[in-house]
Amino acid sequence: MKRYTLFLAGLIIPAISTFAQTIKLPEPQKTGGKPLMEVLSQRQSTRDFDTSRTLSDQTLSNLLWAGFGYNREGKRTAPSAMNRQEIAIYIITSQSTFIYDASLNELKEITKGDYRKAAGSQDFVYTAPVNLVFVCDKTKMPNIQMAYADCGFIAQNIYLYSASECLGTVVRGSFDKNELSRILKLNENQEILLCQTIGYPKK
Ligand SMILES: Cc1cc2nc3c(=O)[nH]c(=O)nc-3n(C[C@H](O)[C@H](O)[C@H](O)COP(=O)(O)O)c2cc1C
Repeated sequence: MKRYTLFLAGLIIPAISTFAQTIKLPEPQKTGGKPLMEVLSQRQSTRDFDTSRTLSDQTLSNLLWAGFGYNREGKRTAPSAMNRQEIAIYIITSQSTFIYDASLNELKEITKGDYRKAAGSQDFVYTAPVNLVFVCDKTKMPNIQMAYADCGFIAQNIYLYSASECLGTVVRGSFDKNELSRILKLNENQEILLCQTIGYPKK
């Protein structure tokens, strides 16, 4: 009987661990931070990260909310042309790839595993704790120029949050669009616009 139970556990536990998970993020903290003029003085791109440090779920929640969370009924922290809200934020960590669900404040897993090598062509991307991928839904916004403009606002929000919280970040246009689209399981109506790497800067 004991052996049989162990046998079943051996089958079931690995099966469960391969299921896609949903991570409920803590409520974003919407107060505090440095004054805006200080943040603007400190905004910069960082490409040298402390690879021993990861972002807590609280920091990730705050950062994603700052980037493109809901700050009013149906509207967001970044503007979007005609309020189309066509950009989805995908997250690549050392563990998995996720999509951010801003309305539920959740990360929905897409693929298990470390796909940071697909997130860009610069070495720091492979070891930084978080890479974001901004994906346009072209059924919501067919005009890709508008989508790039919308994407810029989100990336800048993340630059400002990062400066406020002493995080390092860099927005990136260098990545293999086809390979990354395959990893993130995108369809033909989805187009990757930019990526953004985030972590704690190396001291
Ligand atoms: C649209 C865009 C694409 C960029 N692509 C990359 C990139 O692929 N790799 C990178 O290291 N930096 C990239 N950058 C960051 C710029 O190099 C950086 O903003 C610029 O050198 C000015 O430095 P600062 O952000 O520290 O002011 C990009 C910036 C923008 C706005």
